[in-house]
Amino acid sequence: MSCTIIVGGFFGDEGKGKIVAHIAFQDHPTIISRGGVGPNAGHTVTMGEKEYGVRMVPSGFVYPHARLFIGTGVLVDPRVLRHEVDLLGVQERTFVDYRCAVIEEDHIRRDKASDHLAKTIGSTGSGCGPANADRVMRVARQAKDFPELQQFLIDVPAEINGALDRGESVLLEGTQGFGISLYYGTYPFVTSKDTSASQIASDNGVGPTRIDDVIVVFKAYPTRVGEGPFSTEMTRDVSDSLGIQEFGTVTHRQRRIGEWDGKMARYSAMINGCTQAAITGIDRVDPACAGITDYDRLTRKALDFLGKAEADIGAPITLISTGPDVAHIIDIRDQQ
Ligand code: IMP
Ligand code: MG
Repeated sequence: MSCTIIVGGFFGDEGKGKIVAHIAFQDHPTIISRGGVGPNAGHTVTMGEKEYGVRMVPSGFVYPHARLFIGTGVLVDPRVLRHEVDLLGVQERTFVDYRCAVIEEDHIRRDKASDHLAKTIGSTGSGCGPANADRVMRVARQAKDFPELQQFLIDVPAEINGALDRGESVLLEGTQGFGISLYYGTYPFVTSKDTSASQIASDNGVGPTRIDDVIVVFKAYPTRVGEGPFSTEMTRDVSDSLGIQEFGTVTHRQRRIGEWDGKMARYSAMINGCTQAAITGIDRVDPACAGITDYDRLTRKALDFLGKAEADIGAPITLISTGPDVAHIIDIRDQQ
């Protein structure tokens, strides 16, 4: 049996989707379940010719043999969910906990109309902040109250804990990143919930004693979208000269780019209870590493960077992403 949580170690968009997809193909989980805030998150998964951006369906959907769950703590936007299950053809194996709170049109309107959320914080405008506020006020409606969601309803914690009892593997995927956690991030420039591994376990109704591994995903050059402090941020000229330009999956806003932040990596690893780390974007540290899948072919420059990052994190780096495709990865988990 194994239950693994995958979370973002910086400000989101670390490449969790790709890491989840890779681990799914390797470890054959029977369930991949999403925690985190809701459709404010966008996960991009590239496989061969195709690039997918998902906001509700777990990014592990590319692995065809797992059931796909949305955990109890997550906010569901029925319109986004319907669009994605139809587009991806995953309606038969997608399930939503019956207690998920639902994002309605009015939440989106309030998110966009609020100067504080839309302008000062730079929210994604997806309605998540107002919906979580309504949930705390106990006026939000739940998934079970919506006819269009009936076909998806399930008891997520009961299913996951049952699978673990039977000795199956389960992946719990986090969204967002450590730096925008409501508790531990750069408050008030944060999202509307904690984003750490404990929250992802809670979102899915899995107790802390049942978690075997927490994989924290860091990108070699962290990014941030929206407002708020970013201590290692580069000027646009510097990031352009490195050839790094990124745009958000949900809002298409240009992401701010920064240097590796060892202090933040260590603090994030501590609060997440990191057992293993994944590093993405190593092809940006040294373009000679683009697409390689063999550890022995990493260059000295890449190895030096990884050595420093591992010392900062304080846990072994077992997954090294060398490009956008799911196949562009070095996996040394077994050798630990
Ligand atoms: P909200 O979550 O839409 O309220 O946005 C609050 C802040 O979190 C804004 O700075 C967003 O850009 C940021 N944010 C929310 N979700 C994500 C994500 O999945 N990736 C990166 N930033 C995010
Ligand atoms: Mg994203």
